[in-house]
Amino acid sequence: MKQNKTFSKEPKNIQAMFNLIADKYDLINKVMSFGTQNYIKYKSIKKLGIRPFAKVIDLCCGTGDLCRIIKQIEPAADVTGIDFSDNMLEIARKKDKDKTVQYLRGDVTNLPCPGNTFDFAVMGFGLRNIQNAEKAVEEVYRILKPGGCFMHLDFGKHNFLSKVYDMTTPLIINFLSENKSAYSYLIKSKQIFPEPEDLIKDFESKGFKLKKRKDFLLGVISMQIMIK
Ligand SMILES: C[S@@+](CC[C@H](N)C(=O)[O-])C[C@H]1O[C@@H](n2cnc3c(N)ncnc32)[C@H](O)[C@@H]1O
Repeated sequence: MKQNKTFSKEPKNIQAMFNLIADKYDLINKVMSFGTQNYIKYKSIKKLGIRPFAKVIDLCCGTGDLCRIIKQIEPAADVTGIDFSDNMLEIARKKDKDKTVQYLRGDVTNLPCPGNTFDFAVMGFGLRNIQNAEKAVEEVYRILKPGGCFMHLDFGKHNFLSKVYDMTTPLIINFLSENKSAYSYLIKSKQIFPEPEDLIKDFESKGFKLKKRKDFLLGVISMQIMIK
């Protein structure tokens, strides 16, 4: 996976950064996405066609957005969320009032699950933050059952609209967060993340086949469904 080696994504630093910004993460996400993020996440999960009682894992689940959407769309799904930030997980658990999701603390480059376990794996805005992204993708492939689906959602094309976004976001962050370095990291990580075509090739090189791709906001956000 083509990544900029001079840009550090040391796991300990990434973990500390998400612990630090956890309390404002949801609010800033909502503002930074101009309120579109929940709609995009909903549409992406809907496209997966999750069946009742399917086993689903949300990798880099953060505050649990995707887990909640999965339960909303298919309440009988068996959903696990995994993340290595305690503070992000604490918020996810608080929001899961009926305790319908199993939240685990763990590293997605070394998943605590046997192979061929899950029918669906989802990852939203996670891979971009992982130093050893190749290992994470190999892990997703390992834990999926044959025929299982991986839905990956993140920033996509580095186009004009994406550049406008990069310029306007810091202005918004200035008002909302005291952790400006964390958000300048997020913009930088977005700029060096592979575009969807390259990402799909990377997934294919690990054994996945492309099932579906959908772009949102003129390609600024992109979703891929890969099949094992
Ligand atoms: C940008 S947030 C995305 C959260 C959520 N998926 C969403 O869509 O809002 C990225 C999350 O990935 C987690 N993360 C990054 N690297 C990880 C790793 N190696 N193992 C587990 N979690 C990781 C961070 O702790 C953070 O909660």
